[in-house]
Amino acid sequence: MNYTKRDTYAGSISKLTLGKEVVLNGWAHKVRDLGGLCFVDFRDASGIVQVVLNPEKFDNLQEIKTESCLSITGKVVERDDANKNLKIPTGEIEVVASSYQLISSSQPLPFPISDEKEMSRVNEEIRFKYRYLDLRRPVCRNKLAIRASVLKNMRSFFDNRGFLEIETPIITKSTPEGARDYLVPYRLEPGLFYALPQSPQQYKQLLMVAGMERYYQIAKCFRDESQRSDRQPEFTQLDVEMSFVNQEDILQIAEEMTLDVVNKVIDEFKLEKKKVDPFVRLTYDEAIRDYGSDKPDLRFSLKLFDVSESVSNSGFGVFKNCVESGGIVKGIRYPGGASLSKKEIGALEEFCKEFGAKGLAWIAAGPDGAEFAYTSKNGLGLRSPIVKFFSEAELEELISVSGMEKGDLICFIADDRSVVHNVLSRLRNLIGERAGLIDKTELKFCWVLNFPLVEWNADESRWDSTHHPFTMPRVEDLDKLESDPAAVRADCYDIVCNGVEWASGSMRIYNPEVQQRVFSLLGISEDVQKERFGHMIEAFRYGAPPHGGFAPGIDRLLMFLTDDSSIKEVIPFPKIAGGTDPLMSAPSSIDAMQWAEIGLKKI
Ligand code: AMO
Ligand code: AMP
Repeated sequence: MNYTKRDTYAGSISKLTLGKEVVLNGWAHKVRDLGGLCFVDFRDASGIVQVVLNPEKFDNLQEIKTESCLSITGKVVERDDANKNLKIPTGEIEVVASSYQLISSSQPLPFPISDEKEMSRVNEEIRFKYRYLDLRRPVCRNKLAIRASVLKNMRSFFDNRGFLEIETPIITKSTPEGARDYLVPYRLEPGLFYALPQSPQQYKQLLMVAGMERYYQIAKCFRDESQRSDRQPEFTQLDVEMSFVNQEDILQIAEEMTLDVVNKVIDEFKLEKKKVDPFVRLTYDEAIRDYGSDKPDLRFSLKLFDVSESVSNSGFGVFKNCVESGGIVKGIRYPGGASLSKKEIGALEEFCKEFGAKGLAWIAAGPDGAEFAYTSKNGLGLRSPIVKFFSEAELEELISVSGMEKGDLICFIADDRSVVHNVLSRLRNLIGERAGLIDKTELKFCWVLNFPLVEWNADESRWDSTHHPFTMPRVEDLDKLESDPAAVRADCYDIVCNGVEWASGSMRIYNPEVQQRVFSLLGISEDVQKERFGHMIEAFRYGAPPHGGFAPGIDRLLMFLTDDSSIKEVIPFPKIAGGTDPLMSAPSSIDAMQWAEIGLKKI
């Protein structure tokens, strides 16, 4: 239909435009019929303005349903003082309509778009089935605007430093990053398949062999793996690779980019986040020792402590036997935890057991007035079922090693090294939340460096890459590649933010023989090496430059910036449970002719 085209954006109207005649195009966000007058919160991409329609002037106002699409002509006037709303940018004015056109009507909505409280209760499947309506919410639109700004700022950072943005294929061959591939049948020869890339890893390395030297891409990656709150089957990476650099060069550019982009976006959108500081650096061993995890949340400083030595001769069998049989005993301080009830401590123990602990031993320093089993030299009253098993010297040592203070609960786990670290890292995060130690306005980035090259996969009795098979082993560890793989460190690094892995990267192998040795270590036979990765090994025989790179997850960065706990909220059209798209109903069946064309039969 013909409609009067806008000359003004809703969000741009202010007291400065008082008296002006404006034409608005957009949607009826909220309609309130107050008998005497009809008020419409009128929304377009720029914001919301209140429009007043007088029923005496218009005889069919009932046709303006919520979310119908309208053109409105009217005059900007100041609201009565009583009706001013200083919380919104256009809250001091309104537009008195002189005419309107219903461009396109809306049927009743599946959910109340303008009611944020109600929206938080809407079933996710419905919301994403009607994502085009969900995205009409200003909060959703804002997230996409933040996302666009992140991408724009990343591009300009790299463009200004001589990087080329280069696209790599989507229909290609498997690039392993540890997940299952999405496969695409090849029509011309039934039985052959393309794979969608789990990352552009091989192509970006081939671009270095091709002499591009500085590459980046905003890359779509595809991984058929179980979904989690921060994992989607299809997601976006900022993918970067550079030649003639060492690890330090890469760390510097990655960090500089992060500070530049994140701080600009925080400013632009006035996000409730503190400016990001230069990254803390931890080695993998330090991260595991102090936090039990290679993804420590550094918004709070609690560290694990090791009491294996202090308890190795104690009368507490659980601890003593554990250390004797090669295990360790470590603990964590729960500030203020001494006031937890027996039931609450029991719940903590259940939490630990979920992650494989056999129990949770604890000592409380308080609360005041309780019956204490021991009073320390510095006057801490201790309450605990296990105090009786320790000598005075041992207790004093536990107090000193743990840094116990009045009001604390000290939690201990005795087990194999990996169980202790896994459980205590999770307990640490829980304590951080419960004890209110986390400043939600902080983004604490850190580097984790010096990962081991491989880890033992006990289920399949083989070595797996810690990062991926193209990661460079430390030159000084190369001679241990076959004799002691666990001791080989890699030139490989992660960026962690607030306890979540944000980016991975490494220096790469560019020597064909080293690449073959690593493939062999990973149990990939020579035939399979040739068939799957022959092109990489061959490329390395033509003057391959030393190179390395990294790749942060764009979606995860958005989660940090918007405080979303689900990755779906920051992706325009996300997949829901089972990797399905409820809007398009994908995946979907194909017809008989398509089956025949790709030469496949359902069995
Ligand atoms: P990696 O596999 O560690 O490294 O991935 C890099 C980053 O991508 C993000 N990410 C994901 N985000 C959402 N959903 C997923 N399923 C998902 N999987 C990964 C994370 C992660 O840190 N080629 C290497 C990088 C390199 O070596 O340069 C790679 O892909 O934020
Ligand atoms: P028990 O002697 O088994 O009754 O355990 C005494 C206390 O030690 C209980 O609070 C248990 O939860 C705890 N406990 C048992 N096994 C472990 C363990 N492996 N690590 C830490 N605490 C444990």
